[in-house]
Amino acid sequence: MSTVGGLLLSAAVAAAAEGVQTPSIFKAVSTPALAIREIAWFVLGITAVIFVLVAGFALYAMIRYRRRPGAPDGEPPQVYGSARIELAWTVVPFLIVVVLFLVTARYIYGIERRVQPPGALEVTVVGNQWWWEIRYPKLGIVTANELHLPVSDAARPTPTFITLQSADVIHSFWVPQLAGKMDVIPNKTNRVWIEPHVPGTYVGQCAEYCGLQHALMLLLVVVHPRDEFERWAAAQRGPAREVSAARAGRELFASLACINCHTVRGTPANGVFGPDLTHLMSRRTLGAGAARNTRENLRAWVDDPALFKPGALMPAMRLSREDLDQLTAYLVTLE
Ligand code: CUA
Repeated sequence: MSTVGGLLLSAAVAAAAEGVQTPSIFKAVSTPALAIREIAWFVLGITAVIFVLVAGFALYAMIRYRRRPGAPDGEPPQVYGSARIELAWTVVPFLIVVVLFLVTARYIYGIERRVQPPGALEVTVVGNQWWWEIRYPKLGIVTANELHLPVSDAARPTPTFITLQSADVIHSFWVPQLAGKMDVIPNKTNRVWIEPHVPGTYVGQCAEYCGLQHALMLLLVVVHPRDEFERWAAAQRGPAREVSAARAGRELFASLACINCHTVRGTPANGVFGPDLTHLMSRRTLGAGAARNTRENLRAWVDDPALFKPGALMPAMRLSREDLDQLTAYLVTLE
């Protein structure tokens, strides 16, 4: 158990060390998230005033009317009913709720009204137990657990329009610094759009309980400068690398059940139930944030994913040490 704890901890530490920011809605860097931060401050402001008033009156009453030595025993005189006061504490909160409702409705409408401009990037994100499939239908890219986007600046506004689908149960797509939450529902297509203005790596998390490993359903969003994104896309579009030294491992991979669930483009592996492995080593983590994507972790993952992620749908492969070494040697060539 301590090994698993150590590995998980090192994954978390590594992610923190590699410049991933704390996912706070107050550190918004993208258009809909900026609007959400605005309304969050507005609501917090109103509720803060209410809190100060209510707590202030309560404190005042406690101190002003505290029990003093020599005061007469028994109940103080009781006051019953005051139409004026009751009306005030019904009407005022009602008006506050109406204001909050109208302002919220205006923001939601403003965000959802946006139509997709011609230059927008289109991405389909599919929630799976417990990982994210990321497809770029127009670019011919399929990857997992890492959403790469170009930054959107005034010179070339590039919002990203995301289509959300689920392969199994209800998940929720949430990258606090980029946009609000959106449920990911089987047999229903939801949409969100984001327009990040600052390059960087942002962390998202499934925000709807979806089973045992709901907590390990992380999503990294990497916002690149434009030319860097083009390079990333070009590398992802290419077929899998064929390294002659890893030939034995490649043949082993093709002979195992791996290919029923995983795709490696340019090979017989074309399964669709698990993450596409064509460019596996370009990704930072294994198992949607369960561990850092290193050779050692990869080998341990193939041997038994439950070491990092109990309940993961990938079975333990139970290979011999030699086969495991060969398979790992092949997988690490998939850059
Ligand atoms: Cu997917 Cu929680």
